[in-house]
Amino acid sequence: MEILDGRKISNQIKDEIAAQVAKMKERGEKVPHLAAVLVGNDGASLTYVGSKVKACERVGFESTLVRMPNTTSELELLNKIKELNNDDDIDGFIVQLPLPKQIDTQKVLMAVDPEKDVDGFHPMNFGKMALDMSTFIPATPFGILELLERYEVETKGKNTVVIGRSHIVGRPMSILMGRKGFPGNSTVTLTHSHTRDLKDITRNADIVITALGQPEFLKADMVKDGVVVIDVGITRVPDETAKKGYRIAGDVDFDEVSKKASYITPVPGGVGPMTIAMLLKNTLLARERHRAVKAGK
Ligand code: GUN
Repeated sequence: MEILDGRKISNQIKDEIAAQVAKMKERGEKVPHLAAVLVGNDGASLTYVGSKVKACERVGFESTLVRMPNTTSELELLNKIKELNNDDDIDGFIVQLPLPKQIDTQKVLMAVDPEKDVDGFHPMNFGKMALDMSTFIPATPFGILELLERYEVETKGKNTVVIGRSHIVGRPMSILMGRKGFPGNSTVTLTHSHTRDLKDITRNADIVITALGQPEFLKADMVKDGVVVIDVGITRVPDETAKKGYRIAGDVDFDEVSKKASYITPVPGGVGPMTIAMLLKNTLLARERHRAVKAGK
């Protein structure tokens, strides 16, 4: 069994990006600038956005954190997005999800300029992804592809089962694993809460990607020997023995399942750090495109 070490690979990627940023600085060029909008005080979202801003600092990007209160109206958020769309200094930005109830998430995601949509959530970018066109691939699926690629995990002709059909992870992942090329060329089954006999499906899987947010959902009797397991779950579970009062749990019963797996991602230290690294990669890409447009190319 080999651990797919997201922490290690994400650090490599950040080093690669930092080296590129250092060259930009040497040439006297503007460095990439990422903005993040956080509405409200959700603890997990605060942590994620904090990590994104810290990662920007580490690679030499500029970053801006826009915090808005939980009571923000849809119109106020849409106006802020307009401002960021029109701010020539900002190459890309994200609106952290979930948003408070009074705000229509779809409306907000549609308002983001697709050229600055480094999350890849705008329907135009999602459509381009599905059509194999060059675009921003959502950071978590992009990070999973990068892990599979760097560890040279074979995906061609394999049965890949994705559990969970969220717009952020499961749905795009199912599209990407079925695309031509590497990683891809898998035979994909997208499963969800209405799937019958899930165990029969996962027991036939060569690759299982869990993105449902249910701690230790995937058990050893649900997988076959040699399976590749990608665990996207990050759930806070109350734990009085932990300093913060909680621990982070994945969707996979790691102790049991790792005994049967050929490759497996740990939680934490697997997919999570990769998501952040790929957001930086997308921001780098946004900056390149932005410069090309400004140069009239
Ligand atoms: N909430 C959970 N994951 C994500 C993500 O990748 N991007 C944004 N914007 N919000 C999230």
